[in-house]
Amino acid sequence: MPRTEFISTGYYVPERVVTNLELEDYMDTSDDWIRKRSGIEERRWCKEGQGGSDMAKVATERALEKAGMEADEIDCIVVATISPDYFFPGTGVFLQRKLGLSEIPCFDLRNQCSGFLYALQVADAFIRLGQYRRILLVGTEIHSTGLQVNDVGRDTAVLFGDGAGVAILGPTDDEERGVLAVRTHADGNFAEKLWAPAPACIKNPFISHQDIDDMLVRPFMTGKEVFRHAVTRMPEAIHEVLDEAGLTLDQIDMVIPHQANLRISEMVQRRLGLSDDKIYNNIMRYGNTTAASIPIALSEAVDEGKIERGDLVAFTAFGSGFTWGGALVRW
Ligand code: UT7
Repeated sequence: MPRTEFISTGYYVPERVVTNLELEDYMDTSDDWIRKRSGIEERRWCKEGQGGSDMAKVATERALEKAGMEADEIDCIVVATISPDYFFPGTGVFLQRKLGLSEIPCFDLRNQCSGFLYALQVADAFIRLGQYRRILLVGTEIHSTGLQVNDVGRDTAVLFGDGAGVAILGPTDDEERGVLAVRTHADGNFAEKLWAPAPACIKNPFISHQDIDDMLVRPFMTGKEVFRHAVTRMPEAIHEVLDEAGLTLDQIDMVIPHQANLRISEMVQRRLGLSDDKIYNNIMRYGNTTAASIPIALSEAVDEGKIERGDLVAFTAFGSGFTWGGALVRW
């Protein structure tokens, strides 16, 4: 069975930079509070009419160019997002159409901040089984249109941002390289600790004026509890994939954690005993882009030469669900 290799990566973030100072104009918050609690300095917000599929298209074009590939070489699309362009169909088909492709399958996964790792697990299985040879793996999110940018929603409005990251995956016969392990987990007992209660098909109608008046169409988070679980589960997930691959912490060259909060990344770093050059963070510039955060960070780290062929790279994520996971890749 072949392994799955990362052929190329790409990312796109909207041009509009929204600083913490700008947010002070919209709600009772401060640059100091946001930096101290989360490390975030600015984030990107899309423009009117721009969807997750538009951002993913640009990220894909960049990845294709880096790989010297044409779009029609892609034979499957797997998209992770919790902010689809429309309620249905999923973002995958819009991305497919915008890339000028037709009839290749488009999978849409959710899984929130762990979405990219769940999608990687699916794509990795497809490739190892020989079902597809060039999978476009996507994490794309537009949060700016779903936040309550006011005092009521300030606890989450300051944290999230927009962006897209992609990876093109394919089989390799090189036994030394590729995806070595992917593990995902979930615990639905904590579903309401970070969730959006509306719109909701469990209610009839699934969206009401009351929902909007009550500002239910936004993320609700029990921040401290999410934080506590994240800093436990993320290092645990890295240990799990290391054990599966028969490797040890000191062999890791780079950890790309989901960018939820710089303080979470710092604690994960401390718990794993990693030096500063072995963990990549960009939440300062983009905020939390949920499923897009790992592929954006990965793509940036590769572009900056911080990940080179042969390096051992680990991913870890934690988020709503609760869901979490880890992956290990010999680059
Ligand atoms: O992507 C994966 C999922 N997300 C995460 O992993 C996030 C995990 N949690 C966190 O990162 C942190 O819990 C937060 C950054 C969200 C919040 O930090 P915290 O230290 O847990 O703050 P807190 O929620 O306990 O709030 C402290 C105070 C409260 O005021 P009082 O009750 O002490 O008077 C809040 O009302 O800060 C207040 N507050 C704010 N103040 C200024 C909440 N949001 C804001 C704000 N600006 N934006």
